[in-house]
Amino acid sequence: MVPVFSRKKFESGKKKLLHKGRSANAYLNIMHYNNTDWVIKDFNPCWGFIKWTWGTWMVRREFRALQKLQGVKGFPKDVFMMDRFALCYQFIAGTTIREIDQEKLNGKYFKKLEDLVNRMHEHGIIHLDIRYRRNILITEEEEPYLLDFQTSLMLSKFPRFMHQWLKNIDLSGVYKQWQKRDPESIDDTRLKLLKHSNRRRKLWVLKGYAGIKRKP
Ligand SMILES: Nc1ncnc2c1ncn2[C@@H]1O[C@H](COP(=O)(O)OP(=O)(O)OP(=O)(O)O)[C@@H](O)[C@H]1O
Ligand SMILES: [Mg+2]
Repeated sequence: MVPVFSRKKFESGKKKLLHKGRSANAYLNIMHYNNTDWVIKDFNPCWGFIKWTWGTWMVRREFRALQKLQGVKGFPKDVFMMDRFALCYQFIAGTTIREIDQEKLNGKYFKKLEDLVNRMHEHGIIHLDIRYRRNILITEEEEPYLLDFQTSLMLSKFPRFMHQWLKNIDLSGVYKQWQKRDPESIDDTRLKLLKHSNRRRKLWVLKGYAGIKRKP
């Protein structure tokens, strides 16, 4: 999609800070433009070296993944790069599953989240950061949305024999929360996958990303 607004427009416009970047993370602002609330995920305020290397790389990576998911419900839409340091997409009214009243997270919601993850995989994208609860939203209608494709991968870049293993990393993130919030509604097949994945995760080097450990 062609840029809806330029950095000049963004810098001079009225905006609200949504999320303050720490260390090598982007700053996220919301700006109302053309009757739409836009999220601007921006590495420009980061330290120069980070901004030009990690920042531009992350923006491109997230842009490519979201481009593949345009038109699919459950993902940020109308994505565009404002410039090489900032990614923009529509704001989604919802709450992260970390902040929401945990009672709202039931089997019905997790089934929808599982379907969403499967849909993402059908479009060739692996998320890899689903265990981090701030990357998942729940709307008023109790619909799931997935955010933050910075650490995502394209399935096509991996040999076929690795596909299911990669998909299971994402699914185990869903099942981990499902088991915690509504253990009665999760079945043995899903629990088996979770157990298997947890064992393998002990060997997994990409915990969080960039070596930064975060509270899930
Ligand atoms: N399209 C959106 N609609 C609503 N809220 C959003 C949207 N995109 C991001 N957010 C909010 O901003 C937060 C940070 O977004 P994101 O995860 O993409 O950035 P991040 O730099 O990876 O932050 P973190 O390190 O906390 O994961 C999310 O947890 C969510 O609360
Ligand atoms: Mg995130």
